[in-house]
Amino acid sequence: MKNLLLKLHETNFLTKNELLYLLTNIDKECEKELFRLSDLTRQKYYSNKVYFRGLIEFSNYCKNTCKYCGLRSQNKNVERYRLSTQEILNCCDDGYKMGLRTFVLQSGEDAYFTEDMLVVIAKRIKDEFPDVALTYSIGEKSKTCYEKLFNAGADRFLLRHESANRNLYEGLHPNMSFENRLNCLKNLKSIGYQAGSGFIVGLPDQTDEIIAEDLSLLKKLDLQMVGIGPFVPQSDTPLCDCKSGSSNKTLLCLAIVRLLLPKTLIPATTALAVVSKDGWINGVKIAANVIMLNLSPPSAKDKYRIYNGKNSLPDSAKESLNSTIDKLNKEGFVADMSKGNYPDWERNDNYEYDA
Ligand code: 5AD
Repeated sequence: MKNLLLKLHETNFLTKNELLYLLTNIDKECEKELFRLSDLTRQKYYSNKVYFRGLIEFSNYCKNTCKYCGLRSQNKNVERYRLSTQEILNCCDDGYKMGLRTFVLQSGEDAYFTEDMLVVIAKRIKDEFPDVALTYSIGEKSKTCYEKLFNAGADRFLLRHESANRNLYEGLHPNMSFENRLNCLKNLKSIGYQAGSGFIVGLPDQTDEIIAEDLSLLKKLDLQMVGIGPFVPQSDTPLCDCKSGSSNKTLLCLAIVRLLLPKTLIPATTALAVVSKDGWINGVKIAANVIMLNLSPPSAKDKYRIYNGKNSLPDSAKESLNSTIDKLNKEGFVADMSKGNYPDWERNDNYEYDA
């Protein structure tokens, strides 16, 4: 085990079988060592900086029926909403005044927002706030659509692979294909986005072997951002009675990802804060270097019910910004309010479009 950890630290690589061995056999002492190495690696590239992002949940309509997610179209118990372009801009304005320089626009897969509308939103944000980074997190789109959005000013894109195991993936995502998911990620990367993926820990029927597949896939994709959070049941989904994913297993995965992809940007996810009170700060101490603050208007926030407990977190973004910074400072971290690109990243606007 000690040798595996050394290899992981020195080469930033383990085979799928080695990852499986690590996940299944790690004891408390080696776990401590893993966390130490992961923390060292994060410090090497980011010192004690933690970046802040502003999250805007602009629509909770979704055409999909992912079995774990409360926004699934079959859920009739969620009141649906969409923010107008002006409301989105107002959220950005609030965030900008707080010092935030990255906005993450997230929604369900909502066809109401056409490509043209998403282009306009990106352009308006970039016009009004030229010095921010814009991230879209809106699901699967055609390559042409991703290109148009990039051209309109979107810099980053988040699309978790959710599970790297085809059977588990396709069982949880009716009418979706794992292949298409991977294609989307490849397209995003080739267009020149800073792209992010990730998975859910503790999904029903997920084994350590599947987690090893998730970690290997992330290494292979070699992306700029990785989001990993525990499964949290949502009461209006088919998985409502399943138990939550473990925060410890999530921390283990975060540490391994930090070592596999030393420079990747890793958020301390809200789901981690939901399953364990100190989850997010432990995430930061071990591997994470990004915090997302929710800028959505209160009425929207309450309706964006992807999983239970999400809204028990601090109410106003400003309040959570201050308390989060306090807590980070106490632990020896500093808030970095800059755009926080992937290290040495330069946007390439000379990409030749297919369209
Ligand atoms: N538990 C944990 N994470 C979830 N997500 C959606 N539903 C759940 C849930 N019940 C995650 C997905 C998605 C992200 C926005 O939220 O991974 O990509």
